[in-house]
Amino acid sequence: MYKFITYSLIASICLASCATKQQLNSKVEQASTFNKATVVTAHPLASEVGVKILKQGGNAIDAAVAVQFALAVVYPNAGNIGGGGFMLYRDHRGNLDALDFREKAPQKASRDMYLDAQGNVIPELSLYSQLASGIPGSVAGMWEAHRKYGKLQWKDLVLPAIQLARTGFKISQRQANEFESHKDRFVKLNPSGAAIIKTKAWKTGDLFIQEELAKTLERIAIEGRDGFYKGKTADLIVAEMGKGKGIINHQDLLDYQALWRIPISTNYRGHKVISMPPPSSGGTSLLALLKSVEQFPLQRWGFQTDSTIRVMVEAERYVYANRAKYLGDPDFIRVPVQQLIDSSSNAHKLNSFNFRKATLSKDVNADVIPGYESEQTTHFNIVDEQGNAVSITTTLNDSYGSGVFVAGAGFLLNNEMDDFSVKTGVPNMYGLTGEKANEIQPGKRMLSSMTPTIVEKDGKLFMVVGTPGGSTIITSVFQTILNVIDFRQNAQSAVSLPRFHHQWLPDRIDVENNAINANLRGQLTKDGYTINPRGAIGRVENILVLPNGKLQTGADPRGDDTAKGY
Ligand code: GLY
Repeated sequence: MYKFITYSLIASICLASCATKQQLNSKVEQASTFNKATVVTAHPLASEVGVKILKQGGNAIDAAVAVQFALAVVYPNAGNIGGGGFMLYRDHRGNLDALDFREKAPQKASRDMYLDAQGNVIPELSLYSQLASGIPGSVAGMWEAHRKYGKLQWKDLVLPAIQLARTGFKISQRQANEFESHKDRFVKLNPSGAAIIKTKAWKTGDLFIQEELAKTLERIAIEGRDGFYKGKTADLIVAEMGKGKGIINHQDLLDYQALWRIPISTNYRGHKVISMPPPSSGGTSLLALLKSVEQFPLQRWGFQTDSTIRVMVEAERYVYANRAKYLGDPDFIRVPVQQLIDSSSNAHKLNSFNFRKATLSKDVNADVIPGYESEQTTHFNIVDEQGNAVSITTTLNDSYGSGVFVAGAGFLLNNEMDDFSVKTGVPNMYGLTGEKANEIQPGKRMLSSMTPTIVEKDGKLFMVVGTPGGSTIITSVFQTILNVIDFRQNAQSAVSLPRFHHQWLPDRIDVENNAINANLRGQLTKDGYTINPRGAIGRVENILVLPNGKLQTGADPRGDDTAKGY
């Protein structure tokens, strides 16, 4: 549906340090625009469900609840009821709220639970086993969001997901490929079978029916959160734990609570950027990145020019070093959020770096803060007719989580325990390291990078944005915001433009295919940077509120992502 137009963004002047005067001539996708309301998700059927609920008179929260359940059916690699996430909410009056439905470590969890007798990490135990799962938070999160803000009946919000699970839906080419590529893992971890395991190979357009999941969703529709955390579903989860070394018990499920938290914000070039507080590291790190680069004339330098890239990479190096040391669950440790965002210390670090030579991550340590003792996910955005906005990132952690389906209940369990620092300094599946702040403790929430974000301009809703992508979530949201505010891109091209990523350790710049042109890659390499080409980074969903009040959308072309609205 996107038309292509030629767009030219000229970086007018480069600093003396800027080796290449960059001119960006790229094909930029025209954005879809809707008059009243829009839903942008990773799957067209989930976006349709959200729009249907809005047209029935539901508000953005009602639509978000329905989308979360629909994604658990049509996008099983990250949509979930067996995982968790974060919701950022701004109502049409500007009131803000943040909901933490992140998974928690079970009561039987312990710091060294993934280490052998010699203190070494046991490969894959925190990733692909019943022991990999934290206590799921998604159903409690949706129940709590609806209790506080919902308008329509709860059961009517779960119904579209039940229908999709029972009657099935036609899978896309991308999904057929993914189902096949994960088949061995599914077969190994689910000896009693699962709807996703077929003897014949999956093909584009095959119908995917999930009867057991439909029945679980029916229990949730009728009994609310108790349909998941008590009774038959809880019994099935605990029975599944018994098939491996899993430790989630009935009490863990009963005790799980989603928590309301206070959103964090900062100003960036006349905009108010609002994001998720810990236990996500996403908001804190995003705001610190923005404050780090604000002192530089990025717009004048231009998109992905030499100077722009160097400043962004060096900022990312410092911010991720702090992430590893200080970010963790604020219910267990004190997280110095304000100090980490503080513009003067971030700006100061970037005052002194050398534009002609890479800083080495091994020479960069986290700040000393006085008095202080630390990819597959999915994101969706909704703006309703009243102007209420929801930004939700939700996850099972890895694609298809632990790969373990709860037998008889038809849903996947997360492998979020790997987001803890299972051993100081040992990287998790995203290459992220951590320390004491994010060590495992019973009842603690593991650190996340999820960064659901809302931006205001002149006190009004301006942008709703977020993405999956593990450790790259933060830098993808960062780049999308810069693409809009500094590089004046529309909602779609801000999402489509190529991305890059640095996270302190490993000390390298990950680059998508078309990110950073060949000359610059050469120059950066000469100056000591390591360039690491890789596949797609993130799947960003974006909504911009135009001056005329219309809603311009960006759905990431890296996936089947789709914006719908009216
Ligand atoms: N599981 C990815 C994250 O929460 O950052």
